[in-house]
Amino acid sequence: MTRVPVITVDGPSGAGKGTISQLLAERLGWHLLDSGALYRVTGQACLIEGVGWDDHAAVAEVARYLDVSFTAAASGEVLVAYKGVDVSAAMRTEEGGRGASTVAAIPAVREALLARQRDFMQPPGLVADGRDMGTVVFPDAPLKFFLTASAEERAERRYKQLIAKGESVSLPRLLADIQERDARDSNRAIAPLVPAEDAIVIDSSATPINEVFERVMLEVKKRGLI
Ligand code: DC
Repeated sequence: MTRVPVITVDGPSGAGKGTISQLLAERLGWHLLDSGALYRVTGQACLIEGVGWDDHAAVAEVARYLDVSFTAAASGEVLVAYKGVDVSAAMRTEEGGRGASTVAAIPAVREALLARQRDFMQPPGLVADGRDMGTVVFPDAPLKFFLTASAEERAERRYKQLIAKGESVSLPRLLADIQERDARDSNRAIAPLVPAEDAIVIDSSATPINEVFERVMLEVKKRGLI
């Protein structure tokens, strides 16, 4: 059996992983796994089920039986539903990110979501976006990227996105949230946010996203994946 190729894209929130992964999956015609979405839905499912994010056993139970569906809307946006209830907007808020990061630190939750993530590995290939794609979920992936940027730059980008959406936000508050989430994701005991030993690290602080994508494509071509 030929192995299905996987390209992993890990890094902290706001480093451009989502954009790069989406562009890459489109260019290659491969599947896309947004693993953060699974943790975000788990956080939302807990709210719906009345389970506290700190009740480890109950959160793990929610993750184990997560009834989630992904549907591509005409706009190209991916709609995410839990038990048929659309949670796409709620899970993408700052609070949704905090919930995801909190439940993601529970080992039994990560264990429960592992097989579900590996199921995305389908021909002709998979682009996997997350924190531990290259280290834990797909350690044998032939090409791994770790995308990063300074916390200040990531907060600035998020600030511009939210302002463009008409939301009123404070830049110092966003920076503090990002730093808090980085610390929680990086210091947790299980699958912390670290580059895989064989990952190509790209710092996008001072590099426009199209140049980051060119750099990524160069590596994809070098490995003969296109
Ligand atoms: O990529 P994102 O911002 O949607 O992820 C939300 C949270 O989920 C993030 O703060 C940490 C967690 N996460 C994780 O622990 N492992 C992953 N592979 C993806 C996300």
